[in-house]
Amino acid sequence: MLDIRNVSLSFGAITVLNDVTFSLGGGEILGLIGPNGAGKTTMMNTITGIHRAISGEIRLCGKGISDLKSHQIAARGLRRTFQTSLLCPGLSVVENVMLGLEPQREYGFWGACLGNPSARQWENQARRKSMEMLDWMGMARFAGRPGGGLSFGQQRLVEIARALVSRPAVLLLDEPAVGLTAPRVEELAEKIKSIRSEFGTSILLIEHVMQLVLTACDRVVVMSAGEVIADGDPTVVTVDPKVVESYLGRGYYAES
Ligand SMILES: Nc1ncnc2c1ncn2[C@@H]1O[C@H](COP(=O)(O)OP(=O)(O)O)[C@@H](O)[C@H]1O
Ligand SMILES: [Mg+2]
Repeated sequence: MLDIRNVSLSFGAITVLNDVTFSLGGGEILGLIGPNGAGKTTMMNTITGIHRAISGEIRLCGKGISDLKSHQIAARGLRRTFQTSLLCPGLSVVENVMLGLEPQREYGFWGACLGNPSARQWENQARRKSMEMLDWMGMARFAGRPGGGLSFGQQRLVEIARALVSRPAVLLLDEPAVGLTAPRVEELAEKIKSIRSEFGTSILLIEHVMQLVLTACDRVVVMSAGEVIADGDPTVVTVDPKVVESYLGRGYYAES
């Protein structure tokens, strides 16, 4: 579904990704873990066209996407959430989810301003699809509230709804469990698994919270200092001495 082949990237003199190779299979939930600064977010930014690799290739559903812009990659069925960004605070929750359909919009700005009928129709459809998605996420009761008025955990769920509303083939999640309590992490793990079973979405999940990785992921890729150091079964990989060592001194086991 998503193939990363020998991808390297530098910021100035610093190599941040060094010959990274891994793939995400159809309908798979793949964890991407590793200590802070390992290059996980940079990898996600490279997949989504924010950074350009200096070498290597990225393929989505068998087609090269390394040269495409972010919105073109989104339109091909790959969506993401961000490690830090939250909702647009001034827009309502449902309007925030509707933003996830923008790359599919077929008419321009003026069409919307002049209230042309197809623009209105698009708007209505987008609102209906977004309401359905919020309902599926168990968040419909918040639809009319301002995005900024929700708790941090609720905003993260709405972000996932926004990434999912266009029914992408591939969903990338960057640390969705940050700041959630243990019962909320459990709920999120169930949600992520039901995204796969309901929509057939393939999911790449960057995560530090081991509880989520071990419950939700079929397989785990471990990065350290820009390189892939392990790839395999979550319960095996997370006790691999090489992997444990890469986390040493970073308070990882103390945190999770
Ligand atoms: N835009 C940037 N410019 C320069 N260095 C960056 C930039 N983004 C990330 N880095 C560096 O790249 C490395 C990997 O960062 P990141 O991908 O955020 O790691 P992770 O998500 O695994 O914690 C870090 O050393 C970070 O400081
Ligand atoms: Mg990161």
